[in-house]
Amino acid sequence: MKRTHTCGDLGIKEDGKEVTLQGWVDTRRDHGGLIFVDLRDRYGLTQIVLDPNSKGFGEAAQLRREDCIQITGKVRPRPQGMANENLKTGKIEVYVAKELIILNKSETPPIEIDDRKLANEEVRMKYRFLDLRRPSMQKKLILRHKVGQAVRNYLSDNDFIEVETPLLVRATPEGARDYLVPSRVHPGKFYALPQSPQLYKQLLMVAGMDRYFQLAKCLRDEDLRADRQPEFTQIDIEMSFLDEEDIYRLMEGLIKVAFKTADIDVKIPFKRIAYDEAMERYGSDKPDVRFGLELVNVSDIVKASNFEVFTKAIASGGKVKCINAKGCAKFSRTDIEDLTAFVAIYKAKGLAWAKINDAGKMESSIVKFFSDKVQADIVKKTDAKKGDLLLFVADHKHFTVNDALGNLRLKLAEKLNLIKKDEFNFIWVVDFPLLDFDEDMQRHVSVHHPFTCPKDEDIKFLDKEPGKVKAKAYDLTLNGVEIGGGSIRIHKKELQEKIFKTLSISKEEAERKFGFLLDAFRYGAPPHGGLAFGFDRLIALICGTSDIREVIAFPKNKAAEGPMDGCPSDVDPDQVKELHIKMEIKSKAVNPKGAELSK
Ligand code: AMO
Ligand code: AMP
Repeated sequence: MKRTHTCGDLGIKEDGKEVTLQGWVDTRRDHGGLIFVDLRDRYGLTQIVLDPNSKGFGEAAQLRREDCIQITGKVRPRPQGMANENLKTGKIEVYVAKELIILNKSETPPIEIDDRKLANEEVRMKYRFLDLRRPSMQKKLILRHKVGQAVRNYLSDNDFIEVETPLLVRATPEGARDYLVPSRVHPGKFYALPQSPQLYKQLLMVAGMDRYFQLAKCLRDEDLRADRQPEFTQIDIEMSFLDEEDIYRLMEGLIKVAFKTADIDVKIPFKRIAYDEAMERYGSDKPDVRFGLELVNVSDIVKASNFEVFTKAIASGGKVKCINAKGCAKFSRTDIEDLTAFVAIYKAKGLAWAKINDAGKMESSIVKFFSDKVQADIVKKTDAKKGDLLLFVADHKHFTVNDALGNLRLKLAEKLNLIKKDEFNFIWVVDFPLLDFDEDMQRHVSVHHPFTCPKDEDIKFLDKEPGKVKAKAYDLTLNGVEIGGGSIRIHKKELQEKIFKTLSISKEEAERKFGFLLDAFRYGAPPHGGLAFGFDRLIALICGTSDIREVIAFPKNKAAEGPMDGCPSDVDPDQVKELHIKMEIKSKAVNPKGAELSK
């Protein structure tokens, strides 16, 4: 290496030493006969100084931001009172006595390499190679690397081996849409890019690998959000001869090690909550329990009222739940209208409300429909006090009530500043239902995936009451984000076939789609299970952000485009022809940013 040190190395102990540094010009300041340059690289910043006696003084006057340079000079302490305590190298500067070489000039960068001056998201992504020069971005990528290393070491120490699984696969049944890759050699046939290595890791268990992991790329063609990318990374794990307790113990250890990398001490074991309870109290299967505002079921009380909105919902098998927004009686009509519009996003047909007055009584246009007893019971059950605001949603669908109030709960917590941002609250959500009834398809679908094992004691309900069956499945949530999920798998052919039948997947379809898995189960498949963590989500949360793009070197934007390389793009017609494909684009897709993608 030509450089003797990095820009983050030097201190008083190098006083008098001749050093060579290479890096980028962060800033240049001219002070009469003196030129100061802050030289930057991944490791830090070092102040270099030139005076008219310095070699390269003339060139230094021409230096611009982001020029890439090399200097050789002497380390000296900064003059009295000029030390910068906030900088690792702040006690010294390098006097450029010997040499300044311009390795490469930079044009004026389209974005500033400055953590205090953020360009807009799209421009940052277009010039990601410059955006990633910002120290805060470098810190995140370095942390991502370190957590990855720590995770690999932890798993390796626990006898897990990393095995790579293919990227060109048969369509995987994870529920999202597949990305497809046409085959040149087999006209009309397609590979799918894996939504996860699910089937392969199960086959590795059949193969006797016993403990597998992989930092695996997963690809899903789904609508994007801040915590969803079309390609993302999982810490994918599978093990044989285990039960759920083994998974909890090993994975809690893994999370502890991962957070330790960022000096965050995580207390284990984590709390557990059953899915039904999470939905009942928080209206979500990934509850954020850093604050209260729990949902209260008031159906039994209000069914005795005369408010038809409530009584009709209950009569048609639905329910009425309520949040006590503590101290929010001061909300204006507009505030409440905003909240009503907000719950409408989640299909709530309205938001009934009542304020608690100085006498501790309910006050609202709907109170006239409630007897004194009903009112008193509501106040008691919701623990409502003077100054509180009760917010109700009624619906014939339980899910709508929970979803609307669950999201309202999060919105209120944000608005009222109730969320303790520095708290890391992990919870295992357990006892998920195995199946969900899909109204559109009029059949049951898997809540996780079709290889999830039902609880032994519930198998008897599979034929007649499949909705009652609980699964040996678990999710790990952190501060209201699902960071991982998995299950104990079915390892016997007969049970797997029974589940396919319950899912209305015909023998032929099962054979066609997963024949190789069913085949493998005929040869002494061991009991096995596992889970996958969303690596990007994990790193984002460790870094204190909810936007996973901040911890991915080259993410896609909200329209699943790569603003830097411009993918997806048109391709050479010959390339398409070679794939035996004739293009006829009929529809215009509307991209999620609202602009039309003309195709
Ligand atoms: P699942 O689909 O729940 O399970 O995915 C596991 C975890 O991956 C993360 N994740 C995502 N992160 C970013 N962008 C996305 N589009 C995205 N989708 C999922 C989440 C999620 O908890 N094969 C099973 C695991 C198993 O059963 O072992 C699976 O893929 O944090
Ligand atoms: P309405 O009878 O439609 O004038 O509604 C009276 C109040 O009940 C309004 O505040 C509505 O927002 C509210 N409301 C209507 N439908 C529902 C519902 N499904 N759940 C909760 N509140 C509702």
